[in-house]
Amino acid sequence: MGAPLWFVSIAALLAFSAADVLDDCQLVGGDKKSAGEQAVLAKLAPLKGKRFEAKTKEGSDDYKYSFVVCGRLSNDSKSTNEGLVQSKEGSTDTSVIGRINDTHIISGTDWILLIYGSGDKYDNHCNSEARKAMVMISCSKKTLRGDFTVVQEERNKSRECFYLFEMDSSLACPPEESHLSVGSILLIVFAVLVAVYIVGGFLYQRFVVGAKGMEQFPNITFWQELGNLMADGCDFVCRSRPRTSDTAYRGVGDDQLAEEPEERDDHLLPM
Ligand SMILES: *[C@@H]1O[C@H](CO)[C@@H](O)[C@H](O)[C@H]1NC(C)=O
Ligand SMILES: *[C@@H]1O[C@H](CO)[C@@H](O)[C@H](O)[C@H]1NC(C)=O
Ligand SMILES: *[C@@H]1O[C@H](CO)[C@@H](O)[C@H](O)[C@H]1NC(C)=O
Repeated sequence: MGAPLWFVSIAALLAFSAADVLDDCQLVGGDKKSAGEQAVLAKLAPLKGKRFEAKTKEGSDDYKYSFVVCGRLSNDSKSTNEGLVQSKEGSTDTSVIGRINDTHIISGTDWILLIYGSGDKYDNHCNSEARKAMVMISCSKKTLRGDFTVVQEERNKSRECFYLFEMDSSLACPPEESHLSVGSILLIVFAVLVAVYIVGGFLYQRFVVGAKGMEQFPNITFWQELGNLMADGCDFVCRSRPRTSDTAYRGVGDDQLAEEPEERDDHLLPM
């Protein structure tokens, strides 16, 4: 009778500890979950499990911060859901700054703030409360995973202390809107109409009217007429000197030029 009970309790213990170790952020707030927070978590999905590192110097000590987005830093069985850990270079000292089973997440237009609570307790600062990590993720269209950096460690208060980090990611950006203005839409519509006119007119002229060559171009005479009119208009508006003065100028002003035609005539006469 003793052995099965033993077995059951070990199995229960194993099942319990397996459920206790998480592979994802667990939002706090009781049984009811915020749909808003879950939507922001879903937005972060492409970065899930990705690891980031940042270093700071405090006096003569170097500290390294390791951060995993909604994942544990270690896979071993002793893992306590640590999502952000501080370690002192050249020593085995580590402090868990935040755990993924105590996650808050909020967002705005172009930022996401990920908060891991339930870190290791401060030794003497902040009334020995649990450490807390805040990671500010700002919109940057250029990168999915930008540099992860330490902004500040606030521990000069008697409560609500925190470690603040920041990084850039395109995931924090607002969804892309169509940037087409009314003007460009009109332009596109116009271009499409022109294309339809040319292609449709071409097909009509070729297959219904049976036109060949340039005649296949729709309303060719009208457009040629218009072209001529425009050329005339331009001639009239743009030319600084009236056309007729051209010949007069030659005859009066430039003797050499005026002579040339006569010379040619001379050569031609004897033949
Ligand atoms: C933990 O294990 C998962 C698969 O079980 C693996 O994908 C992941 O890379 C491991 N993480 C670490 C930090 O070893
Ligand atoms: C998170 O997990 C750790 C260890 O696994 C535990 O000590 C802590 O109480 C948990 N925190 C919450 C808010 O569940
Ligand atoms: C906390 O106080 C220490 C020393 O008094 C100071 O060096 C540090 O900059 C302060 N930290 C913040 C975040 O104000």
